[in-house]
Amino acid sequence: MQLQTDWPIGVFDSGVGGLTVLNALREKLPNENLLYLGDTARVPYGTKSSLSVTRYAEQAAACLIRQQIKMLVVACNTASAVAIEPLRAIYPHLPIVGVVEPGAEASCEATRNGHIGVIATESTVNNAAYQTAILKQNPDASVVAQPCSLFVALAEEGWHDGPLVDQIVARCLEPFSMEHSQIDTLVLGCTHFPALRQSIARVMGDAVSLVDSAQTTAVYVSDLLQKTNLMNQSGCGAEVNFMVTDGPERFVRVASHFFSEKIDPARVQVVDIQHIHIPETES
Ligand code: DGL
Repeated sequence: MQLQTDWPIGVFDSGVGGLTVLNALREKLPNENLLYLGDTARVPYGTKSSLSVTRYAEQAAACLIRQQIKMLVVACNTASAVAIEPLRAIYPHLPIVGVVEPGAEASCEATRNGHIGVIATESTVNNAAYQTAILKQNPDASVVAQPCSLFVALAEEGWHDGPLVDQIVARCLEPFSMEHSQIDTLVLGCTHFPALRQSIARVMGDAVSLVDSAQTTAVYVSDLLQKTNLMNQSGCGAEVNFMVTDGPERFVRVASHFFSEKIDPARVQVVDIQHIHIPETES
């Protein structure tokens, strides 16, 4: 099927975290229609097996593709880490962008001494996705990755700052603050973590640059829209619509910690994606 320039870009995440990527897309591409899917019924992905996360990602992608999208942004590090290749194999004609490569690129640009730390969910760390992507771009880099799944719950509860959060963050980031850690760059390899940026910055100190994938992903998406001639030309005012798999009220409430615009509950549709058909390959 011919992709149309006025179709939305489909963006999905396990829940609300991907809204940090949606923010960056809104800012970089104000003329693009966006359709966001948060799989709130099955969040978190970060503690699940690769097999489950791949199935969830395939179902989320199938749901968005049914709505006619011109590009898919996998705005979840965990899903990007394990499911990007299976998705590209099923939908070879749809441009698909993940967040791991852009985050790895941002860290390689930021580091001065080649020592890079990564914090992410358990599943992303176990999959070694960032480690692999960073070493692909800079084979001389040294990468230390640490799971911090607890940050997801803190971010969703709106606990972003304050002495108690600093204490938890300091405890989780202990491997990086030990004397032998020489990292000068820390990748926030989970879409929730930018919410805790101030606390993480305080704990890590000024000598460590924090990078996340949101801005770099928006640049990737913009470049890819140009390259594929899919930039929206109609200046009719871009729309952002939302789908969730559970709890639209909670989504709207928690989203206010992550998304800079107020979400109109009328734009949030509840969908059931658990029984959706997954094609073997796109016809
Ligand atoms: N959005 C997920 C990620 O970026 C984190 C939340 C989860 O565990 O589902 O990895």
